[in-house]
Amino acid sequence: MLQSTLTLALASCNGFPTLRDVGSLTSVILLLLALLYKVLYVPVASPPREDAPPRLPLPSWKVTQLFFEKRFDFIKDGFKATSSSIYQTTLFQHNAIVLSGDEGRQLFFKEKALCLYDTFSIMMGSGAAKFDPHQVGGVVRRMASIQRPDNLQKLIPLILSECQLKMNAWGRESILDPCSSLHEVAFQLVMRIASFDIANDPVLSARLKSLVDTVDSITNPYSTWLPWLPGPALFHKFFASVQIYRIVQAAINARKKSGIKRDDMLQQMIDEGDGTIQIFGCMLGLSLAGARATGTIVTWLIMQITSNPVWSSNVQEEVKTFISTHTSSTSLSGDVLIQALSEIPLTSWESQTPNLDLCIRETLRTSQPYTAVRKNIGPDVTIGSYVIPSGSLVVYPFSDTALNPKYYSDPTRWDPSRGTKKETPFIGWGAGKHACKGQRLATLSMKLVVVYALMRFDITMVDGQGKKINHLPPPDWNDSATCRLKERCGIKFVEK
Ligand code: HEM
Repeated sequence: MLQSTLTLALASCNGFPTLRDVGSLTSVILLLLALLYKVLYVPVASPPREDAPPRLPLPSWKVTQLFFEKRFDFIKDGFKATSSSIYQTTLFQHNAIVLSGDEGRQLFFKEKALCLYDTFSIMMGSGAAKFDPHQVGGVVRRMASIQRPDNLQKLIPLILSECQLKMNAWGRESILDPCSSLHEVAFQLVMRIASFDIANDPVLSARLKSLVDTVDSITNPYSTWLPWLPGPALFHKFFASVQIYRIVQAAINARKKSGIKRDDMLQQMIDEGDGTIQIFGCMLGLSLAGARATGTIVTWLIMQITSNPVWSSNVQEEVKTFISTHTSSTSLSGDVLIQALSEIPLTSWESQTPNLDLCIRETLRTSQPYTAVRKNIGPDVTIGSYVIPSGSLVVYPFSDTALNPKYYSDPTRWDPSRGTKKETPFIGWGAGKHACKGQRLATLSMKLVVVYALMRFDITMVDGQGKKINHLPPPDWNDSATCRLKERCGIKFVEK
């Protein structure tokens, strides 16, 4: 994802006035080349290997379509159709092995040859581009310095002010779309870390969010009727990434020209001599890796807590006690509330809200329809009696652990008390070398958003007609982008 964007942006960063013409011409040439390839190329069928996992009997165009449109059902049905815990299929013109079970999970997260970065260009449809993993390495390295305790402590008032500003716009009473309002807050928090100037310009920040959403959208980058051909979604992503590149370039120039130093990632990178393409890669990586996941989880966290009488009362009590041990002020609203919350030390935020921690853990389990994909960049790997050939994609659906009744009885039920059993497998932040690098920042941000929102508003879930509902509809695990609710609902915020 990140890779193809970088490649596309590199190709376009000189800003030719005829960029759209070049795009159209490129599409025509690609179409002709693809047609020629399809007509002339006759694949040589190789005999099936004896150690190959059972093959899913579906054509590759159908697999790609289902992978984008109904990923959860498609993967689950595949295990049924092949009667196997491991099966193979063809995904994005690659052989793909889908894993499940304890052995599958352990191999997926431990095997060093399984590389995350090599999958970006394949999944986005720009297979020709060679990925430079250092771009992601840059994000990973910077996450360590952003999450140093002194830095996180400084971020607390900034994150709270962003919450206050965004939530002021909701007015005294409003019913908000669960798929957008808190996502906007999460994006703004990530921007606050990335670039002071972009975060301070609401119009620019909103435009950037919409462009990042386009790049990040899970629309199929291939044409559905000719799966080997780049589809319109790829071109939309291409133009969105070009515009993001230009926004970042303008932010760098403005910062350098102003001579003003800011405490953000942009400044760090300028001071270290990074070029525009590196800064662009890091900014986009931060938005893609962080903002959407934080938006989805914090939305579900608020919806689950406020819909569950027991946990709502547990968390509300905990929050009141937590705040009262750190402040003597009794009237907590407006700037006084922000001030009081900002003065609470990071160590307390991280250690004195055990109920909220359990709620976050359970929400990561129940509302994260993530499917991890890697490429085997080493030699063949063996799993049981099967082989994962070199060059194959390897797929592991998080649902195999998160919604597995073997580990979690009645798995779709949201029950934070499960988190006390630490021996149960839990992969809410991933595992192994690619486990989430923003976990500490994401957890802190989500706590600040939830505590601030609970202190400021009475929150209820309402149906399409605005009537209070007592039972929260389940998450749609086929919606791997925003994990929307299966029924139309709103979140009602009423200022206290
Ligand atoms: C609730 C919010 C978040 C959730 C649920 C989440 C979850 C995850 C998961 C499951 C992975 C592993 C992906 C895989 O194995 O394929 C991951 C990786 C990653 N996350 Fe997060 N994440 C969140 C927030 C963030 C934030 C805020 C940032 C940074 C601003 C971030 C940065 C990263 C990075 C850089 C990686 C890739 C690590 C690597 O390649 O080594 N995440 N995240």
